Formats: sequence, structure tokens, C-alpha cells
Amino acid sequence: MARLRTAVLISGRGSNMQALIEECNRSNSAAEIALVISNTNDAPGLSLAAEFGLNYDVIDHTDFPNREQFEEALTNRLMLSGVEFVCLAGFMRILTKKFVDRWYNKLINIHPSLLPAYPGLYTHERAISDDTKFAGCTVHYVRVGVDSGPIIIQTAIPILVNDTPETLASRVLEEEHKCYAFALREIALGNIYVEDEKVQFNGVLQPQRGVANPDSSTNTSDETGT
Ligand code: GAR
Repeated sequence: MARLRTAVLISGRGSNMQALIEECNRSNSAAEIALVISNTNDAPGLSLAAEFGLNYDVIDHTDFPNREQFEEALTNRLMLSGVEFVCLAGFMRILTKKFVDRWYNKLINIHPSLLPAYPGLYTHERAISDDTKFAGCTVHYVRVGVDSGPIIIQTAIPILVNDTPETLASRVLEEEHKCYAFALREIALGNIYVEDEKVQFNGVLQPQRGVANPDSSTNTSDETGT
């Protein structure tokens, strides 16, 4: 069976890209990474793509007078490589309606928060400063608007008392890698589709129980004095 020709768009480190590559390198994967594109030529993820022997390219947004022309170059490059599906993996450019429409339901993104909470930048700082008890990540189809669109999967993790934005980011990142691999795998297998702007699954396991933070399952209070 032909594998889903997928591009990964990056701007930096590329750890989510690597998770997608590793997913596609599984022997029975229904997706393949046909191309990696970065919008900056100093993205560390580019050397990672090279190490994995992938096709990669730089389309520097600063070479273009406006967003539309940059995105037209992106689409042309994607089409030249026969790309059918696009994953944004730390790609830090806002996309116009024209690009989002061109890749409608063929464009997904990962974001390090439980959307719609904390779109944009500094998600971990904001979550800690609000003293919220859970953080997490979201993979979603891309619509116009920063970090918006139908949600495919989310993973929640507790924010720990001593968490800093850095410690939290690194625990969320581990979950990002699993979520993104899952999303691409299920999409490539044809198990996910969008109906009325909601993501539907063919066969999916859902957790039946909640998790509390702080843990409410053990009673640590001193009951002897009452
Ligand atoms: C990831 O945490 C990703 O969720 C985030 O950028 C980081 C990229 O890391 N993306 C966004 O914030 C998108 N709004 P990576 O280059 O190692 O994958």
C-alpha cells in the first residue's frame, strides 16, 4: 500500500520531527517523511533530518516580501515532492487563510498546552504562574488563528509543586512525542476523520477515570485529634 507522503515543517530543535521520523521508520508504518522544510537555515533540526537521510530544504521567510509569497513558495515546494500531508513541528510562523485552506484537513500541529488554554508562546510559564494543576499537549488540525482547530489528541500531566517552566517543558515534551506519533499513525491508517469540525475516530480507547492533582486517593490528614 502506498504510504502517506508527509512533510514536516520546523523552525528549531526538531525533537517532534524526530518522533515522527521514528514513527515512519517502523516497518509497518502507513506514513513516510517525504520532506522536511525549515523557515530558518540555522534550525538544529536540519542536521537531524540529514542524519536520518531525509530530503530537506530551507525556505527562509525573510527572503519574501510578505506571508502570502512565502507560503506560495512553501506550497510549491511541497507539491514538487508530492507531499499529501503536512505536520507542523515547532514551526513558528502564523499561517494565512489561503495556506490553511489549501491544506485543509491535511495540516496538523502540536502545541505544548491543553488547548484552547494557553495558545501562543510561554505556555509553561503562564500555566505555572496561574497555579493551574495540569499541563499537557495537544495535536490538532490547523485552522486560521494561532494554535486553533479540531483537537485530535491531548495528554495531561500534573504540574508539580517545584516545577519550573524548564522542568515542566521537558516532561510535556516527552508526551508530545508520543501524541504526535499516535496522531500521524492513526491518520495515515485512515482511522481519523473530521466531521462538523470535530475529530472522529474509528475505534479508540478512552480513559474511564480521572486523575487528581494533588492526589486525592490517599487520605494523609491526621484524624486522631478530632
Ligand atoms: C514543541 O514544544 C512544540 O509543541 C512547540 O514548539 C516546540 C518545538 O520543539 N510548538 C508550538 O509552540 C507551536 N505553537 P521541537 O522543535 O523539539 O519539536
